[in-house]
Amino acid sequence: MVELCAHRWTITAVVLACLTLIGSLLIHGLQWPSLVAFRAQMPDPKPVDITNITTIVLWYWPFGQTAALKGNVCSERFGIPNCILVDDQSLFSRADFVIFHNRELINGQQRLPVHLSRPQKQRWVWYSLESPVHNGNLRPFAGHFNCTMSYRHDADIHGPYGRLVPQDFGTGLTVEDFIPKDKSSLACWVVSNYAPHHKRTEVYNKLKTIIPVDVYGGAVNRRLDDKTLRSTISRCYFYLSFENSISRDYITEKFWYNALVGGAVPVVLGPRREQYEAVAPKDSFIHVDDFRSLEELGEFLRKLAKDKQRYASYFNWRLKYTVEYFKDWREEFCRICPKVSSLQTQKVYNDLDAWERK
Ligand SMILES: *[C@@H]1O[C@H](CO)[C@@H](O)[C@H](O)[C@H]1NC(C)=O
Ligand SMILES: *[C@@H]1O[C@H](CO)[C@@H](O)[C@H](O)[C@H]1NC(C)=O
Repeated sequence: MVELCAHRWTITAVVLACLTLIGSLLIHGLQWPSLVAFRAQMPDPKPVDITNITTIVLWYWPFGQTAALKGNVCSERFGIPNCILVDDQSLFSRADFVIFHNRELINGQQRLPVHLSRPQKQRWVWYSLESPVHNGNLRPFAGHFNCTMSYRHDADIHGPYGRLVPQDFGTGLTVEDFIPKDKSSLACWVVSNYAPHHKRTEVYNKLKTIIPVDVYGGAVNRRLDDKTLRSTISRCYFYLSFENSISRDYITEKFWYNALVGGAVPVVLGPRREQYEAVAPKDSFIHVDDFRSLEELGEFLRKLAKDKQRYASYFNWRLKYTVEYFKDWREEFCRICPKVSSLQTQKVYNDLDAWERK
């Protein structure tokens, strides 16, 4: 009897094992062809660690400026692995980060999806490249965001308008090689948003009575496309990198792109000199605050343009650095991924407004 029972159990076990095997063959066997095809496309035979992939959902595009997200944009275009960027709101529940650009929230075009149930590990990112005076009232957003993303150095995800990247150009180059040859204008300014109450308007109005300033841009009906912008500025000794508002760390493309990439020495109006020196060599720019009066500034610029050697010294940084500047929203967002491990694991902005005013 005991023997018979044992026998029965053995048979049952064998049958069960066979059924399991057939079942698993049916399930996995069907998947094999697609699995093989998938592996064949992979350049790297190492298995992908799917537990370490960061998914970012861009809730809507800043200023409605959409861009293609086909394929794996972060790795294929920007060399950032394990990072998925989508603009598909239906993937909300799978997102590690959801990005909200501030402008559309404050003007009422978009709303935070507070009605959706939010996975515990998910972080909401408040994103803005504007200075506080242009960010509107942030009080309604208290308690919703986990991360700030902005040009500010103390943002959780720091995305400046530009930065200098050390570069080895080898030997044989001199500063002269980096100075555009056909300088013909003393000072230039490109302005699209001209408002009488801006400090920069006041400074410009005074400065133009002291030295000639060539003005371009939408505000004076002399719009420049990107190519003419570069060639126009390269003909200027100095470029007025005047920010629309004076605010901590607020150093924009007017400095990085228009002046530094354009090949003119920036004359800056913006945060204090130390803040510029934190991101660029102190002899790469001229600060309006360095002078007791605009007359002195004007006089200084006039003399400097005539002193070839001294003028060239403002380009010394070019032998050591190149400028990396904001180009593409997608790249900015993909750059969140490599920063994940440095973020605080748990954080809520209970007073975003106070953070902004800090
Ligand atoms: C995830 O990837 C990062 C860098 O890509 C690495 O430093 C980290 O250890 C990885 N984490 C896990 C859990 O594999
Ligand atoms: C994100 O913020 C929410 C509050 O709005 C909070 O419940 C959640 O724990 C935070 N998540 C992280 C990862 O900090």
